[in-house]
Amino acid sequence: MPKDVREEFLALLQDAVKTGAWPKLTLSRHRGADASLKNLFVRPVSLKAGPRLSFLWRHATQDIAKNHTFEEGLALLGPLIGGDFLEAHLFTGSQAIQLECRPDGTYRLRRSPQQAGAPAEGSHDRPKAHPIPADSGWLQALGITGPTGKPREGMAPKYRQIQKFTELLSHLLAEAALSGEGPVRVTDMGSGKGYLTFAVSALLGERSRVLGIEARPELVELCNRVASEQGFAPRLSFAAGTIAEAPVDGIDVLIALHACDTATDDALARGIAAGAQLIVVAPCCHKELRAQLGTPEVLSGPLRHGIFQERQAEFATDALRSELLEWAGYRVKVFEFVSTEHTPKNLMIAAVKARPRGDSAAAERIRSLARFYGVKTQALARGLGLELA
Ligand SMILES: C[S@@+](CC[C@H](N)C(=O)[O-])C[C@H]1O[C@@H](n2cnc3c(N)ncnc32)[C@H](O)[C@@H]1O
Repeated sequence: MPKDVREEFLALLQDAVKTGAWPKLTLSRHRGADASLKNLFVRPVSLKAGPRLSFLWRHATQDIAKNHTFEEGLALLGPLIGGDFLEAHLFTGSQAIQLECRPDGTYRLRRSPQQAGAPAEGSHDRPKAHPIPADSGWLQALGITGPTGKPREGMAPKYRQIQKFTELLSHLLAEAALSGEGPVRVTDMGSGKGYLTFAVSALLGERSRVLGIEARPELVELCNRVASEQGFAPRLSFAAGTIAEAPVDGIDVLIALHACDTATDDALARGIAAGAQLIVVAPCCHKELRAQLGTPEVLSGPLRHGIFQERQAEFATDALRSELLEWAGYRVKVFEFVSTEHTPKNLMIAAVKARPRGDSAAAERIRSLARFYGVKTQALARGLGLELA
């Protein structure tokens, strides 16, 4: 009788995968031979090669991702559920199903309705699993967390930003077909104190080469020291330099988070020129277009307020950037990556290389947008050699 409950769970999993009810599955309470392994997260992804199950193996200090066909993936999961892992949570979109395997060989199956939009790990009686383990040594070495693994005073927003960014990046890597086993080369432009650069390296693990480029040598020195002490070197390194001159040959991923004003455009232009498969930027300080933006008569009232001028400059700049990326052959998503309550600099532009560069009609549409705002020149358009006027 107890064995039937496990088989019922496996049948539900199989059905959900095969009927396209896109499940998410989390395996926890690992008791297998590899003591560093903590969890296995499985979710469906759509790759160029067709639909796959993405397996994310969470170890104490790194994540290892691998994709399998549905058949392979289901065959691998069978013995793990109730074997190496004592607990499994399946989220089908309509229900959350938990299988608890007790060490004495008995099983308990619990089902509860899953609320629309509830996160995959969102059963109400357990904390949300974070992509970066709270007790990671590098979080502590960079001053984000204290010895107990809790964020230090004032660092909770940065901690949440690191976790959210890592979660988003793992999805974007899958979309860019970079979540398999092959090597991934990443350059992070304007890496600052390296919080998010370390997060990228922790997510991608041994198969990656991550380089942080930063103008301030003292930050480069700090980050290289922590990378070495925490066992990240040489796959993670930092170099003093400028975005304009950073080496980008052969990179797969370009990241530029909160690089000021046109530094974001310089990074975008370099990523596009290098043919990066995935480009992720979080722009900040939109100064370049402020002086160029015209004020149509009908908007002259509201635009006497500085905050509206600022928001209009942000919108016009990021709208042009996203259209230019599309023209350059990328599929673009623009979204808020962390709540404004944590940071006002929360807009993210993510671009996955998808097609050849756009034609002259696409370029003309961008010129119309620029004309509408009175913009004659913009840094990314200059970087891409597209005349706006
Ligand atoms: C606001 S910080 C962001 C740091 C990090 N990316 C993050 O989001 O936590 C911006 C960093 O970019 C660096 N930076 C700005 N312009 C740069 C350039 N042109 N070349 C290299 N680094 C630059 C600054 O020194 C600073 O450390």
